[in-house]
Amino acid sequence: MKRSLDEHAARFDEMAADYDDDESDEYRACASLVVEHADPRPGDTVLDLGTGTGAIALPLAEEAERVIGRDISEGMLEEAREKATDRGLSNVEFGEGRFREPAVPDDADVDVVTTNFAMHHLSDAEKRETLDAIAGLEPRRVVLGDVMFFDGPDPDDPFYSPEVDDPATVGTLADAFTAAGYALTAVERVHDQVGVLVAERVVPVGEPAEPVGGPDAADAEGGS
Ligand SMILES: C[S@@+](CC[C@H](N)C(=O)[O-])C[C@H]1O[C@@H](n2cnc3c(N)ncnc32)[C@H](O)[C@@H]1O
Repeated sequence: MKRSLDEHAARFDEMAADYDDDESDEYRACASLVVEHADPRPGDTVLDLGTGTGAIALPLAEEAERVIGRDISEGMLEEAREKATDRGLSNVEFGEGRFREPAVPDDADVDVVTTNFAMHHLSDAEKRETLDAIAGLEPRRVVLGDVMFFDGPDPDDPFYSPEVDDPATVGTLADAFTAAGYALTAVERVHDQVGVLVAERVVPVGEPAEPVGGPDAADAEGGS
């Protein structure tokens, strides 16, 4: 991480009120793909890390049972809470939490984890630690939209701020997912330096796989 957590939080606190006015086409495309690929079931709990003003958490709250948004910037979180109230959403909760310590409530069983345009603030080692922490929650799916290099960094046209951001290559991220026990099931290239990776949990040998169609499918078919 090129800046401390407090420095990142202060930077986002400062830009929180105007954050939603400053969106690029690539950012918008990436956010739409993250929401689309997250595709939660009606009974699911979603954890959105680096949630910001709720660009991912709020639309997912229309589909999931519960959405937990975590961020280090109180300014960004306050904007997200206001938007949730305006939209009449009561199943989304925004609070302080970090990538590697997401502060998931004890009563939450996380099914899907999303994160958009946020993990590039971490070093590659910190990204690996984050994916390990996420894997510890055992979600069936993780959707990562972010600045990432498909062809390597382009110093003449960086899609990020080299002084504060630290994007990884797609290969590094794919390896980190694999090491954490997740297999990539989709890779969306939005731009040479922006993409979305979708990863599904690899069920360890000996652990019962979830029936096709979700946990209720066996009951619906009369299974026991
Ligand atoms: C560019 S914004 C993206 C916000 C939102 N996900 C979106 O798609 O609009 C990045 C967010 O990541 C948050 N962030 C940065 N480092 C973080 C960390 N270590 N843990 C949690 N959030 C972090 C920032 O406070 C900021 O709100």
